[in-house]
Amino acid sequence: MKVISIVGARPQLVKLAPVAAAFAETEHQHVIVHTGQHYDADLSDVFFTGLGIPDPDVHLGVGSGSHGVQTGAVLSALDPVLETEQPDWVLVYGDTNSTIAGALSAVKQHLPVAHLEAGLRSFNRRMPEEHNRVLTDHCADLLLAPTEEAMRHLANEGLGHRAELAGDVMVDICLRIRDAVLAGEHPLPALPEGIDPSQPFLLATLHRPDNTDDPARLSAIIKSLADLPVPVALLAHPRLAARAEQHGIDLAQGAVRVGRPLPYAGLVAAVLASSGVVTDSGGLQKEAFLLDRVCTTIRPETEWIETLEGGWNHLVPNPHEMAPTEWSNLVTRPVPATPHGTPYGDGTAAQRVIKLMEQATSSRS
Ligand code: UD1
Repeated sequence: MKVISIVGARPQLVKLAPVAAAFAETEHQHVIVHTGQHYDADLSDVFFTGLGIPDPDVHLGVGSGSHGVQTGAVLSALDPVLETEQPDWVLVYGDTNSTIAGALSAVKQHLPVAHLEAGLRSFNRRMPEEHNRVLTDHCADLLLAPTEEAMRHLANEGLGHRAELAGDVMVDICLRIRDAVLAGEHPLPALPEGIDPSQPFLLATLHRPDNTDDPARLSAIIKSLADLPVPVALLAHPRLAARAEQHGIDLAQGAVRVGRPLPYAGLVAAVLASSGVVTDSGGLQKEAFLLDRVCTTIRPETEWIETLEGGWNHLVPNPHEMAPTEWSNLVTRPVPATPHGTPYGDGTAAQRVIKLMEQATSSRS
């Protein structure tokens, strides 16, 4: 079986790591195509080196642009690659512009498409990720769902016959790296200046357009973080840094200490060192959950509803509209007394993904 993985943005590299490692244990041919959606070393190269992912076989180098420009650039650059490679499967990951472009290029060339992390829904049509994931699911042949909830969404959309419960490959990598961190293999990276890791601190990220692109809203959210009674290590994604600079918003206010994004093992070590997480990232919500840290999510909804059970994760669409003590008590709340279950699988999803693709290949012939 020849499989082409199409990746381009940071969260896809995290998901690719366990999949590439699982393919390396088989006889299958695994080709990696990097679209170049993320090009900063912080968001791309350090994930390849840090997670032991083989270098991409093909790099499309598309870079940034409006949604149409970026998606279109990936689509047209992929056409000749897929035409030459003629894989048995095109494997696309998650919900970025690289995902929908990969799925479209493949389906228009009659190449079978498998979608990893299928069936997630926020039902928020303002999110570019929601368009990307719905459209990708509807054009893919094999839908690899991470959760029972995702399976239900797919069934509701009439896609149940193409869906399989694969589990979540992010568990595979997160638990592997957690164990390595706990074994002392990855020291805590340098945190933003002013953060003392021996004292309580919160780890924060913010990058969703709905939070970063409206200056009044961004300014209000930063003010809510700045007023907290504990230091906040804000790992600034390039989009956040760019928008803050564009609108003249100083991120380093009050409790907020600004740093750069961390490589994956560094991030896991930082979550473990923190007393809680504040984020709008889908991946980090789940990493906090898997690493037993409380998370406060600055969004009106989450695709990962299992994290909300028992209060491990809390949704706060507008922190600046909460009373300051209520907000501060929420983000500094202790870890819930009841442990959470394992709704995302047992850490062997990548092997299952390959098994499901093998089965779907043989049922095709
Ligand atoms: C993308 C994904 C999002 C994912 C996120 C993880 C889409 C629609 N969104 O959002 O689902 O959660 O990646 O990080 O695909 N930039 C740089 N350097 C880079 C990449 C981006 O400076 O390496 C800047 C550019 O100014 C760019 C902006 O960040 O315009 C946004 O980048 P883009 O890749 O379009 O989307 P993300 O916000 O990263």
